[in-house]
Amino acid sequence: MAAFSRLYCTLGFQTELKMRKPVVLITGANGEIGHGLIKSIAAKNDLSIITLDLDPLDDELKPQVRDAVTANIIDRNSLERINAKYEISEIYHLAAVLSTRAEFSPHTAHDVNVGGTINLLRIAVEQAASQGSTVKFFFPSSIAVYGLLTVEEKDRTGAINENQFCRPQTIYGCNKLYCEHLGRYYANYYRRLFAANERGKIDFRAIRFPGLISAETIPSGGTSDFGPEMIHAGARGEPYACFVRPDTTMPFTTMPDAVAAISQLMHTDAVQLSKSVYNINSFSVTAEDFANKVTTLYKNASVTFEVNEKRQTIVDSWPAKVDDSAARKDWGWSPQFDFDLAFEDYLVPEINKRYTQ
Ligand code: SER
Repeated sequence: MAAFSRLYCTLGFQTELKMRKPVVLITGANGEIGHGLIKSIAAKNDLSIITLDLDPLDDELKPQVRDAVTANIIDRNSLERINAKYEISEIYHLAAVLSTRAEFSPHTAHDVNVGGTINLLRIAVEQAASQGSTVKFFFPSSIAVYGLLTVEEKDRTGAINENQFCRPQTIYGCNKLYCEHLGRYYANYYRRLFAANERGKIDFRAIRFPGLISAETIPSGGTSDFGPEMIHAGARGEPYACFVRPDTTMPFTTMPDAVAAISQLMHTDAVQLSKSVYNINSFSVTAEDFANKVTTLYKNASVTFEVNEKRQTIVDSWPAKVDDSAARKDWGWSPQFDFDLAFEDYLVPEINKRYTQ
């Protein structure tokens, strides 16, 4: 009997092994980028999607995924279960505590932003070793990795490239910068002194996103949120008190362009990539530009400026413009929407649908 059950277990396990199909793992799936990315991957790919989020996956996303796990990325047991059950070929690690929220709880932010990333990188290298093939890893970094010391320095500095001013002033920026380095380390140097060469590798790629604007979701906990918050409030006909000065300038990208960028970068042949971390930018505008646009487009909108000096210092430390020439050259980054088109062809039509449904 024992022999029979051993044989059964072995056969059952082998069948399960044969049935293990490659999957894509997306963490932080309920977040802003997750929404767009799940739809894009589900539409283009025959790979199944497994999601991980602190909260149950939004109902509208459920039909597009094979398994939606509700767990914290710092819970190693939950991650181990996913690791054991699936053959993961790509990881999109989106879960993070954003910049404003992170400043209120820096140690929790560190645990989630750094601890969660290490957990996922570890799974990636284990998967690569057991599969004997490359596991791709996407990491959304941020302009928060940059730190300009004064507004004068920000004003006189033009578009900054990936190697300049990497001295973040927020815990979120520190976490993102360190995780970029961790990704590079795991991809190129992990276990470099071990006698045997590990089978399989990870292929780590990251984009430093500017402020992201989505018609579908309203961000929470970020410092670039004054842009999207103003637009959504305007569309609802509600007054909005902007927490930064009218002349505050920073780079932005729409969510469809951000999702397209992830897909472009992840599908580019590795030999074409000169770096593992890239800037992207669609337009650099002031808070006043946003206010003018919103009050012109929505007749019930009203915007006032009630500056929160502390949050202002965070945006003042972020560049007004980034140099994204490497992304343009290496993998063909070219945003579809500039500032005007973002409103005309994307935000207004999509946001109107949302608030009239
Ligand atoms: N949008 C992010 C934030 O404001 C920065 O990457 O936290």
